Amino acid sequence: MFAERILMAFPLAYKPEFIVDCWRHEICDDFEEEPSSKERALLRCRFDLLKVVSHQAWLLPCTLVVTVAVACAFLTVPAMGSEKVELSLEASKAGAKIDRNIFGQFVEHLGHGVYGGIWVGPDSAIPNTRGIRNDVVAALKAIHVPTVRWPGGCFADEYHWRNGIGQQRAVTLNPNWGGVLEPNTFGTLEFMDFIEQIGAEAYVSVNVGSGTPREAAEWMEYMTTVQPTTLEKERAANGHPAPYKVGYLGIGNESWDCGGNMTPDYYLSQLKIYSRFVRNFNPTQQDKQPMLKIAVGPGGSEPRWTEWTQTIMKAWHEHTWSWDMNGLSMHSYTVGKWPPAFTSVGFGEKEYAEILKSTLEMDELIAKHSAIMDEYDPQKKVALVVDEWGAWYAPLPNTNPGFLVQQNSLRDAILAALNLNIFARHADRVRMANIAQTINVLQAMIITDKEKMVLTPTYYVFKMYVPFQGATFLPVAFKAGIYRHDDVALPRVDAIAAKDTNGKLWLEITNVDPGQAVEVEATLTGFQAKSATGETLTAPKVDSVNTFEAPDIVVPKSVSAKIEGGKLTLHLDPKSITVISVQ
Ligand code: AHR
Repeated sequence: MFAERILMAFPLAYKPEFIVDCWRHEICDDFEEEPSSKERALLRCRFDLLKVVSHQAWLLPCTLVVTVAVACAFLTVPAMGSEKVELSLEASKAGAKIDRNIFGQFVEHLGHGVYGGIWVGPDSAIPNTRGIRNDVVAALKAIHVPTVRWPGGCFADEYHWRNGIGQQRAVTLNPNWGGVLEPNTFGTLEFMDFIEQIGAEAYVSVNVGSGTPREAAEWMEYMTTVQPTTLEKERAANGHPAPYKVGYLGIGNESWDCGGNMTPDYYLSQLKIYSRFVRNFNPTQQDKQPMLKIAVGPGGSEPRWTEWTQTIMKAWHEHTWSWDMNGLSMHSYTVGKWPPAFTSVGFGEKEYAEILKSTLEMDELIAKHSAIMDEYDPQKKVALVVDEWGAWYAPLPNTNPGFLVQQNSLRDAILAALNLNIFARHADRVRMANIAQTINVLQAMIITDKEKMVLTPTYYVFKMYVPFQGATFLPVAFKAGIYRHDDVALPRVDAIAAKDTNGKLWLEITNVDPGQAVEVEATLTGFQAKSATGETLTAPKVDSVNTFEAPDIVVPKSVSAKIEGGKLTLHLDPKSITVISVQ
């Protein structure tokens, strides 16, 4: 460590850019074997650089004095100042469209995700429309939520839809999440009303674990049919004569675990049956947007999940007319270690760096499963749907551990930005994602307590990224540099760019480093830039949060950028997320 710091203090011998290049396998592709992780590659390259330097013996005597002096200064003065990052953006090289569905949400009957968070009931003193909180609806409308996945999660495989319709609702249990009573007052009508109020599409997960294909098929008939069947009449009698539109159908949830602990082959036979019989029964919707079917996919990188993806994709490749699927789900939480032990508040730089390092594994995971999908689906017809992602920390003290209650800090905002950027870079395959979970659970957008509501740092990232919804990905090249804390090394900056349908350019740059500002100099080619404006999100500390009492600690502020001679210059605060529009 000491030797490394000396090297860092001596720029001729140690170039942080090399490390990042190694990381990206650009100059270190001569390994005997493919490194099993980014970190292994990083360490190996670092070691090679040390060897190179030690072979340059002539350098040592004449630089020793300078090195020691600089190193001493480096070791005693805290990291400050700013780094320069050059970035180039080629506006004429359009990539894939960034599907707006990657900004999707996930609402499960879990803790106060639904009850208290969305649903307060029509008689509540909390302002509501037909029982649904007005403040929550307004906040979600502002982030243009494209899809909401519901009713779970693990809950979905124990959900029986008939309990959630009509005047008399059955009171059941929620054994997955604290064993509490489930009043079923938020059911089909209420969920569909909620998504209509926020302007989103329905992504409904049907019960494969403890339900039947018939139960699921009848639910879809109840929701979608236009013909006067008994179920259509029941829907009308329950308050909704017009058919609903179900944009996406999830066939089970984590069927390898809480969804029934199935083998890939067992699940596959269920998938075929559900895919065949659980239909969109509304012929008028079928051409424009049939209900897209999403199969259960992997939950990690271990061999059992590689086998899962292989099995499902191979079967899909050979599928006959009688069944099909349009997406393969993938779940990946940033946990650090299991069971979740990282705290969501009151942490320091060590935990900040460790969690961000862990979240970057999303990239490798997507790459791994996309490669398997490519074998069977080179045309990328089947989307990879990351329909559960986000940070999962230890429950807050004095909360029901089954309610998965955590705070949301600046670290989570940076984590969200890094993941959204990963999804955007994989836009050709990742065409939908749903952060877990929208309100009061895990990495939430919104936290409520009775009549109080606060918007989280993660919420503001989703708001700042609205212009990327449906925009066309543009390649950005940059030397990220390195942010290092103890034995954790991360790319200092991350960036994505896109062109929206109005021809405006959008650039997002995250400065991961909590100690160093960054001066960005961006060269824009293929675009006549005249002006640039933007917003930045940062806060005093890595664990800064918004609370009911102080809701504006982590909120976006406007930032200015200069355009001169086709170059954009911009200052990035430490630990910040910045979105710039260029016209
Ligand atoms: O989001 C919480 C839970 O995490 C979901 O119910 C389940 O699918 C996953 O394991």
